[in-house]
Amino acid sequence: MPDLKENIDLTKLPYHIAIIMDGNGRWAKDKGHDRLYGHYQGVESVRNILEGCAELNIPYLTLYAFSTENWDRPKDEVDGLMELLVDTIRKEVATLNKNNIKLHVIGDMSTLPPVAKKELEEALVETSHNTKFNLILALSYSSRWELLNAIKNIARDVKNGNLDPDEIEQETIQKYLATSNFPDPDLLIRTSGEYRISNFLLYQLAYAELYFTATRWPDFGKECLFEAILDFQRRRRRFGKTDEQITLPQQKQVLHS
Ligand code: IPE
Ligand code: IPE
Ligand code: MG
Repeated sequence: MPDLKENIDLTKLPYHIAIIMDGNGRWAKDKGHDRLYGHYQGVESVRNILEGCAELNIPYLTLYAFSTENWDRPKDEVDGLMELLVDTIRKEVATLNKNNIKLHVIGDMSTLPPVAKKELEEALVETSHNTKFNLILALSYSSRWELLNAIKNIARDVKNGNLDPDEIEQETIQKYLATSNFPDPDLLIRTSGEYRISNFLLYQLAYAELYFTATRWPDFGKECLFEAILDFQRRRRRFGKTDEQITLPQQKQVLHS
């Protein structure tokens, strides 16, 4: 396999990568195992991708680990996933600290089983001093939950006189989102051959580059990440402008505008 990493332009890296880690269940079933086996193998991919992002100095990685809608899965699977979450967090805190990675959680923590919530809250405190990388776990998260929450809080602040409706800007909305402390993702990756967003970061992905791969999450290793980044680097991010505007140096753009 060619060394993909060598070909990555270190001056054009995504600053924030978000991933919909999908395909664990099908991966396991194809191998004759139960779905939980796939989730366990998925943790190995999380380690690899975290390592890959660290090698490239990518400061923000958001992982969609469990959606609001995933609560409707069979109880055995939900219980197994929660147990895996507690186990993984417990084991990985030391590694996060060693690598200067700060953990964040976005999602409705109040719906998590008490033991999972406690473990996470401890991990958040224990990694809070880290400054180099940010690992954001979307847990019991969905965009519509997040937007509903934001709108309720905005309405509350208007009602109690802390917010003037005429002064609500796009930045105000961002402040009320669960992601208020993070930049928007530059690159969204979804594994397992599905072409949908599944209620993930609907507002924040407005200008993200989307990358879909048939590879299932347990098979998604560092080389797959590097491939996605190389693909990202071939894109032209125009943000509504013309190709020419993007190509011209900054100085000329000002002169001609
Ligand atoms: C992603 O894999 C992990 C979670 C949603 C928790 P899936 O469990 O959705 O696996 P598939 O899509 O059924 O194969
Ligand atoms: C999206 O995967 C959620 C996570 C990866 C946590 P799903 O497997 O739940 O998505 P759908 O149901 O196929 O859209
Ligand atoms: Mg799935």
